[in-house]
Amino acid sequence: MKRIVLVMYWKKLDKKLFTKAVPVEREADVLMEHEYDGIRELDNSLPPWWKYGFYITIGASVVYLLYFHVLGIGKDPIQEYQYEMDKAAAQLLKFQENDPGKIDEKNLSMVDGAGITNGAKIYNTACWPCHGKELEGGAGPNLTDDYWLHKGGLTDIYLSIKHGYPDKGMQAWEKNYSPKEILQMASYIKSKQGTNPPGAKDPQGDLYVEDTGTNELNPPEAVNDSIAEIKNK
Ligand code: HEC
Repeated sequence: MKRIVLVMYWKKLDKKLFTKAVPVEREADVLMEHEYDGIRELDNSLPPWWKYGFYITIGASVVYLLYFHVLGIGKDPIQEYQYEMDKAAAQLLKFQENDPGKIDEKNLSMVDGAGITNGAKIYNTACWPCHGKELEGGAGPNLTDDYWLHKGGLTDIYLSIKHGYPDKGMQAWEKNYSPKEILQMASYIKSKQGTNPPGAKDPQGDLYVEDTGTNELNPPEAVNDSIAEIKNK
Protein backbone atom coordinates (compact mmCIF):
# COMPACT_ATOMS: atom_id res chain seq x y z
CA MET A 1 0.00 0.00 0.00
CA LYS A 2 2.69 2.36 1.10
CA ARG A 3 4.66 1.52 -2.00
CA ILE A 4 1.82 2.35 -4.34
CA VAL A 5 1.36 5.73 -2.72
CA LEU A 6 5.06 6.37 -3.16
CA VAL A 7 5.02 5.36 -6.80
CA MET A 8 2.03 7.57 -7.49
CA TYR A 9 3.61 10.44 -5.72
CA TRP A 10 6.78 10.00 -7.74
CA LYS A 11 4.86 9.87 -11.01
CA LYS A 12 3.12 13.10 -10.17
CA LEU A 13 6.35 14.77 -9.25
CA ASP A 14 8.08 13.45 -12.32
CA LYS A 15 5.37 14.83 -14.53
CA LYS A 16 5.36 18.18 -12.80
CA LEU A 17 9.08 18.72 -12.37
CA PHE A 18 11.27 16.33 -14.25
CA THR A 19 10.13 14.99 -17.60
CA LYS A 20 6.59 16.19 -18.30
CA ALA A 21 6.74 14.02 -21.43
CA VAL A 22 3.66 12.69 -23.17
CA PRO A 23 3.21 8.96 -22.39
CA VAL A 24 4.48 6.58 -25.03
CA GLU A 25 0.94 5.46 -25.91
CA ARG A 26 0.00 8.98 -26.96
CA GLU A 27 3.22 9.80 -28.72
CA ALA A 28 1.46 9.97 -32.06
CA ASP A 29 -0.27 13.16 -30.89
CA VAL A 30 2.97 15.03 -30.57
CA LEU A 31 4.89 13.54 -33.45
CA MET A 32 5.97 16.32 -35.76
CA GLU A 33 5.73 16.34 -39.51
CA HIS A 34 9.35 16.54 -40.46
CA GLU A 35 11.77 13.69 -40.78
CA TYR A 36 15.51 13.71 -41.42
CA ASP A 37 17.27 10.48 -42.32
CA GLY A 38 14.52 8.56 -40.58
CA ILE A 39 14.81 10.63 -37.44
CA ARG A 40 11.54 12.17 -36.24
CA GLU A 41 10.85 14.62 -33.49
CA LEU A 42 8.33 14.65 -30.68
CA ASP A 43 6.90 18.01 -29.67
CA ASN A 44 7.38 17.38 -25.97
CA SER A 45 7.73 20.19 -23.46
CA LEU A 46 11.17 21.00 -22.17
CA PRO A 47 11.94 19.43 -18.79
CA PRO A 48 10.35 21.74 -16.22
CA TRP A 49 13.35 21.63 -13.83
CA TRP A 50 15.49 22.88 -16.67
CA LYS A 51 13.14 25.74 -17.42
CA TYR A 52 12.95 26.67 -13.74
CA GLY A 53 16.72 26.86 -13.67
CA PHE A 54 16.55 29.24 -16.57
CA TYR A 55 13.94 31.41 -14.83
CA ILE A 56 16.13 31.54 -11.74
CA THR A 57 19.07 32.85 -13.78
CA ILE A 58 16.83 35.56 -15.22
CA GLY A 59 15.75 36.53 -11.72
CA ALA A 60 19.34 36.46 -10.52
CA SER A 61 20.45 38.71 -13.35
CA VAL A 62 17.94 41.35 -12.28
CA VAL A 63 19.19 41.18 -8.70
CA TYR A 64 22.78 41.32 -9.97
CA LEU A 65 22.07 44.33 -12.14
CA LEU A 66 20.42 46.20 -9.28
CA TYR A 67 23.02 45.21 -6.71
CA PHE A 68 26.16 45.97 -8.71
CA HIS A 69 25.13 48.55 -11.28
CA VAL A 70 21.93 50.40 -10.38
CA LEU A 71 22.13 50.70 -6.60
CA GLY A 72 25.92 50.29 -6.55
CA ILE A 73 25.90 48.34 -3.27
CA GLY A 74 28.24 45.63 -4.54
CA LYS A 75 31.87 46.28 -5.39
CA ASP A 76 33.31 45.54 -8.80
CA PRO A 77 36.74 43.87 -8.93
CA ILE A 78 38.58 47.19 -9.15
CA GLN A 79 36.72 48.61 -6.17
CA GLU A 80 37.29 45.41 -4.27
CA TYR A 81 41.02 45.60 -5.03
CA GLN A 82 41.13 49.22 -3.89
CA TYR A 83 39.25 48.31 -0.73
CA GLU A 84 41.77 45.57 0.09
CA MET A 85 44.68 47.90 -0.61
CA ASP A 86 43.26 50.63 1.63
CA LYS A 87 42.71 48.11 4.36
CA ALA A 88 46.28 46.88 4.07
CA ALA A 89 47.63 50.43 4.06
CA ALA A 90 45.67 51.26 7.20
CA GLN A 91 46.95 48.10 8.86
CA LEU A 92 50.51 48.92 7.87
CA LEU A 93 50.20 52.42 9.27
CA LYS A 94 48.80 51.07 12.51
CA PHE A 95 51.53 48.48 12.72
CA GLN A 96 54.21 51.10 12.15
CA GLU A 97 52.71 53.36 14.79
CA ASN A 98 52.76 50.59 17.37
CA ASP A 99 56.13 49.17 16.41
CA PRO A 100 58.44 49.48 19.44
CA GLY A 101 61.54 49.43 17.21
CA LYS A 102 60.06 52.19 15.13
CA ILE A 103 62.25 54.90 13.72
CA ASP A 104 60.76 58.36 13.69
CA GLU A 105 62.08 59.92 10.51
CA LYS A 106 61.14 63.37 11.77
CA ASN A 107 63.45 63.01 14.71
CA LEU A 108 66.45 60.84 13.92
CA SER A 109 69.43 60.71 16.20
CA MET A 110 72.81 59.01 15.97
CA VAL A 111 72.89 55.42 17.18
CA ASP A 112 75.38 54.27 19.83
CA GLY A 113 78.74 52.51 19.29
CA ALA A 114 77.34 49.01 18.80
CA GLY A 115 74.87 50.38 16.27
CA ILE A 116 77.65 52.14 14.38
CA THR A 117 79.67 48.92 14.35
CA ASN A 118 76.71 47.12 12.82
CA GLY A 119 76.25 49.97 10.34
CA ALA A 120 79.90 49.57 9.33
CA LYS A 121 79.36 45.83 8.90
CA ILE A 122 76.48 46.38 6.51
CA TYR A 123 78.35 49.14 4.71
CA ASN A 124 81.25 46.76 4.17
CA THR A 125 79.01 44.23 2.46
CA ALA A 126 76.66 46.40 0.41
CA CYS A 127 78.14 49.84 -0.15
CA TRP A 128 81.92 49.79 -0.41
CA PRO A 129 82.12 48.69 -4.06
CA CYS A 130 80.81 52.11 -5.08
CA HIS A 131 81.72 54.34 -2.14
CA GLY A 132 85.07 52.82 -1.19
CA LYS A 133 86.29 50.81 1.80
CA GLU A 134 87.08 54.00 3.69
CA LEU A 135 84.12 55.88 2.19
CA GLU A 136 86.59 57.71 -0.04
CA GLY A 137 84.32 57.36 -3.06
CA GLY A 138 84.53 55.53 -6.38
CA ALA A 139 81.60 55.05 -8.69
CA GLY A 140 79.61 56.79 -5.97
CA PRO A 141 80.56 60.03 -4.22
CA ASN A 142 83.02 60.44 -1.38
CA LEU A 143 81.04 60.22 1.85
CA THR A 144 83.65 61.72 4.19
CA ASP A 145 83.92 65.28 2.93
CA ASP A 146 81.69 68.27 3.55
CA TYR A 147 80.26 68.28 0.04
CA TRP A 148 77.02 66.48 -0.63
CA LEU A 149 74.86 66.00 -3.68
CA HIS A 150 71.81 65.53 -1.47
CA LYS A 151 72.80 67.29 1.76
CA GLY A 152 74.74 65.73 4.59
CA GLY A 153 72.55 65.83 7.69
CA LEU A 154 71.81 62.53 9.41
CA THR A 155 68.24 62.59 8.11
CA ASP A 156 69.40 63.53 4.60
CA ILE A 157 71.82 60.61 4.52
CA TYR A 158 69.17 58.30 5.94
CA LEU A 159 66.75 59.30 3.19
CA SER A 160 69.45 59.04 0.50
CA ILE A 161 70.04 55.44 1.54
CA LYS A 162 66.37 54.64 1.99
CA HIS A 163 65.06 55.99 -1.31
CA GLY A 164 68.29 55.97 -3.31
CA TYR A 165 68.69 57.71 -6.64
CA PRO A 166 67.86 54.83 -8.95
CA ASP A 167 68.26 56.87 -12.13
CA LYS A 168 71.77 57.90 -10.98
CA GLY A 169 73.03 54.42 -10.13
CA MET A 170 72.21 54.33 -6.42
CA GLN A 171 69.40 51.94 -5.65
CA ALA A 172 66.81 52.35 -2.90
CA TRP A 173 67.87 50.18 0.03
CA GLU A 174 64.65 50.18 2.01
CA LYS A 175 63.72 46.77 0.63
CA ASN A 176 67.04 45.28 1.72
CA TYR A 177 67.47 46.87 5.13
CA SER A 178 65.21 47.80 8.01
CA PRO A 179 64.85 51.43 9.09
CA LYS A 180 67.05 50.62 12.06
CA GLU A 181 69.82 49.24 9.86
CA ILE A 182 69.59 52.22 7.54
CA LEU A 183 69.94 54.55 10.53
CA GLN A 184 72.96 52.55 11.67
CA MET A 185 74.59 53.00 8.25
CA ALA A 186 73.74 56.70 8.20
CA SER A 187 75.28 57.04 11.67
CA TYR A 188 78.39 55.16 10.54
CA ILE A 189 78.74 57.53 7.58
CA LYS A 190 78.30 60.54 9.87
CA SER A 191 80.95 59.14 12.21
CA LYS A 192 83.43 59.09 9.34
CA GLN A 193 83.02 62.78 8.51
CA GLY A 194 86.27 64.61 7.95
CA THR A 195 88.45 61.47 8.09
CA ASN A 196 89.99 62.44 4.74
CA PRO A 197 90.96 58.89 3.68
CA PRO A 198 93.71 58.31 1.12
CA GLY A 199 92.57 58.45 -2.49
CA ALA A 200 89.56 60.57 -1.57
CA LYS A 201 87.41 61.41 -4.55
CA ASP A 202 87.02 65.07 -5.45
CA PRO A 203 84.10 66.80 -3.77
CA GLN A 204 80.76 66.61 -5.52
CA GLY A 205 77.70 68.70 -4.84
CA ASP A 206 77.41 71.55 -2.38
CA LEU A 207 79.10 72.40 0.87
CA TYR A 208 76.86 71.22 3.66
CA VAL A 209 76.86 73.01 6.96
CA GLU A 210 75.16 71.14 9.75
CA ASP A 211 72.00 72.84 10.87
CA THR A 212 72.19 72.56 14.63
CA GLY A 213 68.49 73.31 14.93
CA THR A 214 65.85 70.83 13.95
CA ASN A 215 66.56 67.95 11.67
CA GLU A 216 64.08 68.85 9.00
CA LEU A 217 62.51 65.86 7.25
CA ASN A 218 62.36 66.25 3.54
CA PRO A 219 61.11 63.09 1.88
CA PRO A 220 60.13 63.12 -1.77
CA GLU A 221 56.79 64.77 -2.35
CA ALA A 222 55.17 61.57 -3.62
CA VAL A 223 55.87 59.84 -0.31
CA ASN A 224 54.35 62.70 1.66
CA ASP A 225 51.32 62.67 -0.58
CA SER A 226 50.61 58.99 -0.13
CA ILE A 227 51.09 59.18 3.64
CA ALA A 228 48.67 62.11 3.80
CA GLU A 229 46.22 60.20 1.66
CA ILE A 230 46.28 57.19 3.97
CA LYS A 231 45.93 59.35 7.05
CA ASN A 232 42.91 61.13 5.60
CA LYS A 233 41.02 57.89 5.14
C1 HEC B 1 76.16 50.59 -7.53
C2 HEC B 1 76.86 51.65 -6.86
C3 HEC B 1 76.38 52.08 -5.50
C4 HEC B 1 76.18 51.31 -4.38
C5 HEC B 1 76.33 49.81 -4.22
C6 HEC B 1 75.78 52.23 -3.33
N1 HEC B 1 75.77 53.51 -3.80
FE1 HEC B 1 75.37 55.16 -2.73
N2 HEC B 1 75.52 56.30 -4.39
C7 HEC B 1 75.90 55.83 -5.64
C8 HEC B 1 75.87 56.94 -6.57
C9 HEC B 1 76.22 56.86 -8.05
C10 HEC B 1 75.43 58.05 -5.85
C11 HEC B 1 75.22 59.46 -6.39
C12 HEC B 1 73.76 59.62 -6.76
C13 HEC B 1 73.49 60.94 -7.46
O1 HEC B 1 74.26 61.30 -8.35
O2 HEC B 1 72.46 61.55 -7.13
C14 HEC B 1 75.24 57.62 -4.47
C15 HEC B 1 74.85 58.46 -3.45
C16 HEC B 1 74.82 58.07 -2.12
C17 HEC B 1 74.57 58.98 -1.03
C18 HEC B 1 74.31 60.46 -1.14
C19 HEC B 1 75.63 61.15 -1.30
C20 HEC B 1 75.51 62.66 -1.46
O3 HEC B 1 76.50 63.24 -1.92
O4 HEC B 1 74.46 63.21 -1.17
C21 HEC B 1 74.66 58.25 0.13
C22 HEC B 1 74.50 58.76 1.56
C23 HEC B 1 74.91 56.89 -0.26
N3 HEC B 1 75.01 56.82 -1.61
C24 HEC B 1 75.05 55.86 0.64
C25 HEC B 1 75.11 54.52 0.24
C26 HEC B 1 75.03 53.40 1.13
C27 HEC B 1 74.86 53.50 2.64
C28 HEC B 1 75.10 52.27 0.37
C29 HEC B 1 75.00 50.84 0.84
C30 HEC B 1 73.77 50.44 1.49
C31 HEC B 1 75.30 52.69 -0.99
N4 HEC B 1 75.27 54.06 -1.04
C32 HEC B 1 75.49 51.83 -2.05
C33 HEC B 1 76.25 54.56 -5.96
C34 HEC B 1 76.14 53.47 -5.10
